[in-house]
Amino acid sequence: MIDKNSPLPLYYQLEEHIKQTIESEELMPGDSLPSERELSESYQISRMTVRQAITNLVNKGYLFREKGKGTFVSNQKFEQNLQGLTSFTEDMKARKLVPGNKLLHFEIFPADQDIKERLDLGEEELIYKIKRLRLANEEPIALETSYLPVKLIPGLTPEILEESLYTYIEDELHLNIGHATQTVEAALVNDEDIKHLKIKKGVPVLLIQRETFLENGTPLELVRSSYRADKYKFKIDIERK
Ligand code: GLP
Repeated sequence: MIDKNSPLPLYYQLEEHIKQTIESEELMPGDSLPSERELSESYQISRMTVRQAITNLVNKGYLFREKGKGTFVSNQKFEQNLQGLTSFTEDMKARKLVPGNKLLHFEIFPADQDIKERLDLGEEELIYKIKRLRLANEEPIALETSYLPVKLIPGLTPEILEESLYTYIEDELHLNIGHATQTVEAALVNDEDIKHLKIKKGVPVLLIQRETFLENGTPLELVRSSYRADKYKFKIDIERK
């Protein structure tokens, strides 16, 4: 596995080898890694080289160290491409995970001034306020609050929201979702996140806010989601022009 004649640095070869054992699930999240001494003996390489490989894998999130206990395999994060206006259901299915929803709140009420302006609504218009816990393989991933105009999406029910909202909008209502503006920022968990996402106080979440528009430019939704930062990372491919 480690080829001393290869032009590839030894630490890099070990790093790739450990990565493969994690990706092939030979080593599972929570498993401990053999000690530096054991690794250096079994691969016949220096402890410095082993340390370099482990440090790189810690920095990349594959491993984590616990003082006095050793080095362990981290929970792997879901990687989400930021390009493309996809739904949660599509994102999970693309990863062969089973999407799930827990509807926490469903309400129809007259929008307040700020939401009315952002959704371009008239005086008396009603909005849905929806709060859903989004799950992947039954594990809580994100807590999502959405505001949508009732006039655009008539007949929305709690039952429909157990499944994909975008599927309902596109396949049942035949509306064309066009584009969105999305921001991603770090935020501290609030009490609701702690309760539903099963995370501890003081831990950061990824706060994602999306404003989505139909193809004809009509505002469709305002969404605020807290994603578990220990489970999720965002990826973007960038090109130098
Ligand atoms: C993502 C987006 C939301 C969108 C939702 C629809 O979570 N951040 O803005 O409302 O997907 O998901 P689904 O169609 O799975 O209900």
